[in-house]
Amino acid sequence: MADWSDFIQQIKRQNDIVDVIGGYLELRRSGVNFMARCPFHGEKTPSFNVNRNLQIYKCFGCGESGDVIKFVEKYESCTFLEACEILAKRAGIPMPETSANRDDKEYRERKAKKETYLAICRETARFYYRAYRSDVGKTARDYVAERGFDEATVNKFGIGYSPDSFSLVKHLQSKGYKTEDCVKCGVLQQTQRGIADALNGRLIIPIFNIQGQVIAFGGRGLDEYTISRGKYKNTSETPLFTKKDNLFAVHIAKEQKQQTALPHLVVVEGYMDVIAMYQAGFKGAVASMGTSLTEQQAKWLSRLSDTVYICYDGDAAGQKATVRGMDILDRAGLEVRVMTVPEKLDPDEYIKKYGAEAFEGLIEQALPLPDYKLQLLDRAFPINSADSAKRNDALSKYVKGALNMLRTLDDVRQARYITAVSLKTGYSEDFFRRKLAVTEEDEPLTDSALTSFDKAKYFVAACVLRGEEYASIEDKPVCNLAFLSNLYDYLLDCRVKRVKPSVDMLYTVCPDATAEQYAEIVDVDLSADKRAVNEKYFAECKRLIATEKLKLQRDLLMKKIKSNPDDAALLQQLAELSKKITDNAN
Ligand code: UTP
Ligand code: MN
Repeated sequence: MADWSDFIQQIKRQNDIVDVIGGYLELRRSGVNFMARCPFHGEKTPSFNVNRNLQIYKCFGCGESGDVIKFVEKYESCTFLEACEILAKRAGIPMPETSANRDDKEYRERKAKKETYLAICRETARFYYRAYRSDVGKTARDYVAERGFDEATVNKFGIGYSPDSFSLVKHLQSKGYKTEDCVKCGVLQQTQRGIADALNGRLIIPIFNIQGQVIAFGGRGLDEYTISRGKYKNTSETPLFTKKDNLFAVHIAKEQKQQTALPHLVVVEGYMDVIAMYQAGFKGAVASMGTSLTEQQAKWLSRLSDTVYICYDGDAAGQKATVRGMDILDRAGLEVRVMTVPEKLDPDEYIKKYGAEAFEGLIEQALPLPDYKLQLLDRAFPINSADSAKRNDALSKYVKGALNMLRTLDDVRQARYITAVSLKTGYSEDFFRRKLAVTEEDEPLTDSALTSFDKAKYFVAACVLRGEEYASIEDKPVCNLAFLSNLYDYLLDCRVKRVKPSVDMLYTVCPDATAEQYAEIVDVDLSADKRAVNEKYFAECKRLIATEKLKLQRDLLMKKIKSNPDDAALLQQLAELSKKITDNAN
């Protein structure tokens, strides 16, 4: 593969961050920097700062920061690779060949096929759209009007109508598309009576991907006969579309996010729920299309927001598969809240019956996932039952369930919920802590509590990365944090290649770091008047890092000695090492 890191450097050189961001946001000059209203959180006064010298952006309101690639990634809600593609195109740089596409005929053919399928889906959507608005579409229009959807909403979602089984076939043939391709992407299907429109006679709801391309369709039956064969029929699994990996209306949520910064998303089950919510002013709704949530869907969601409200139809929300889906979102780092819609209504029905304001109330009353799980436990195992045998049985099941819930929480939240669960069950907080301690031993190190060693590593890395004259490193420290590990690999790589490290590479080398981690590097005050202090502190930090390494070596050695207590050579090594540690400390 061509040198990927050269390619990235080239993209960055030819896409000045001020020009690129200026194409998306209104930038105002302020001293050497440029300011704008942050697109990643709602704000009235600009605290979003773009620095031309360092080629980075930083929001002093929400802490979001990065280089030009990271900006495009966040703003377009796309992957790192897709962001590179956008910027490469912008600067007229060809994408490097990777093992996946170089000389790979199969890869190129697959890509060309995908383009064809997308074109067929787009043409099909147009056909349905026109049919809905022509004479044949009256049935569909009447149905939609009866459900209370207005024209603007209908147009926004690109609602259409399939008039019969043959018109679409003819239309696509007249446009020159091969029937075989139309079957492959699911819009036509083989029946006993020949090739036919797969969604014959249904109201059409196009499904878009996050880039706004039509990839599939949902079709709602409008008469008894059609409904008897499935109220909805969706495009089958195709190279463009898998139901469980997509979310209906992600493209609209993305657009919304670009306009106003989405405070949260609402995940509902049905197409019609999303559409009704949009009309009522809730524009961050997406639908899981009736299946339980997957990791891929969690990824789409976390690209768009960090808080997700789950709003499922009445009894569906309590089912095991549904809770498992919510756990998937939680593990993906999303803040999950669960709404309860009364009377077994779905959001569409609820809004129709009680109005948008009442629905807003449901959002406000939503429970954080742990509380929701406790509520489910409470309903399933009534521990206040009058019958003592039943009560004990319920209590032990409740405790078991509560422990499972507590295990999924971080320390801070765990402490809080232990108190709640203890009050509820009458068992002491200690009891829960002991039970939880059993599997807690081999927990991975987390970022939240920075050790003095880690602080030293951050500082040293910051000085080297930002080119302080006195700062150099010779080897890699012990790194528990992936962020530091990647960063040091990069710094040492620069040393080997004898090139100056560049601050904006931080976001490329460590794409998944948190705002706090970036801040530990970017926000260190390295101004000239602090130079003497910083230089001294740098030396101290390096010594600290060396000490840590030595101590770890000593720990390893001690383990060896434990199993070979009479090995003189090992003891000799230990003595030397201990001396080094003491020397180093002075
Ligand atoms: P619902 O039956 O709750 O859908 O199914 P809805 O949107 O409220 O439909 P209306 O209001 O009766 O028109 C939830 C989702 O499950 C999928 C669809 O994606 C639907 O929106 N579904 C449902 C199917 O794929 N096939 C079906 O037969 C039913
Ligand atoms: Mn419904």
